[in-house]
Amino acid sequence: MHATAIAPGKVNLLLEVGGVQADGYHDLATVFQAVSLYEKVTVTPADDFTVSVSGSVDVSGVPLDATNLAVRAAQLVAGHALWERGAHIGIEKGVPVAGGMGGGSADAAATLVACNELFDAELSPAQLRDLAAHLGADVPFALVGGTAVGAGRGDVVSPALALGRFHWVFVTDAEGLSTPEIYATLDRLRGAEASALPPPRVDPEVLHALRAGDTERLALALHNDLQEAAVSARPALGDLIAEGVDRGALAGIVSGSGPTVAFLCSGVSEARSLQAGFGRDRHEAFVAVGNVAGACGATR
Ligand code: C5P
Repeated sequence: MHATAIAPGKVNLLLEVGGVQADGYHDLATVFQAVSLYEKVTVTPADDFTVSVSGSVDVSGVPLDATNLAVRAAQLVAGHALWERGAHIGIEKGVPVAGGMGGGSADAAATLVACNELFDAELSPAQLRDLAAHLGADVPFALVGGTAVGAGRGDVVSPALALGRFHWVFVTDAEGLSTPEIYATLDRLRGAEASALPPPRVDPEVLHALRAGDTERLALALHNDLQEAAVSARPALGDLIAEGVDRGALAGIVSGSGPTVAFLCSGVSEARSLQAGFGRDRHEAFVAVGNVAGACGATR
């Protein structure tokens, strides 16, 4: 007896960071896009809640104890079901770890879906989204997928129309960056200005470009407020972005809190040749398309 679900990684096409709220989180206006790098989660009944990790990316930084978000997701669903046992959560990672692509959030989203089935919890999509928001700011989006606007902490998501396919190359860094530290660095860089910021807003140009399926237009509108902080923590990221654009990408942007850099390309062959170019320089690079669906049950 087991249940399996997959959930995608994401890139923030736009990330406007506002002031710090009473709960310590920053007010955000963001546009997420789910991309075709997936986490796969298989849950099996067990006496306790345990987790194991394997995958096509370096998994050495992933916690294997109860601090893993997937364990907390499984416990939340068990609490809403008549499930008095535990579960083993097997995670196969395809999203770079600690890279700013929401891999941990995707694990939590896939675990919610798989446990809902295994535990016969019968939670509705809206109930799953509520649980997701308790787990982390990016977890509701990993459930919903597609392209979506995120408000609040990023956890209040509304679908956005995106036509066509967008071709991405993601270049990873061997060492992750800590999301809380990158937000704190941004506050430090902003200084006194950080406490007097207007509410963040989504630049409508991004939504227009998505609605038109216009990759060149989207490339000009990509923006990430956390990029300055990520580049200040890891200056080589600035050079990496310039290198990708030199090699033919339409634009490069730090993904979320980094250090993964996302390059938008005009087509699949351009993406493949950019990936090969980075590969020759011994950078790990993944090709993916957006947008794709959010977390769903899988039979294989
Ligand atoms: O919600 P999640 O655990 O993914 O967030 C990780 C950390 O990132 C938070 O603890 C917080 O320091 C920072 N964060 C923030 N504002 C947000 C989202 C995340 O300050 N809107």
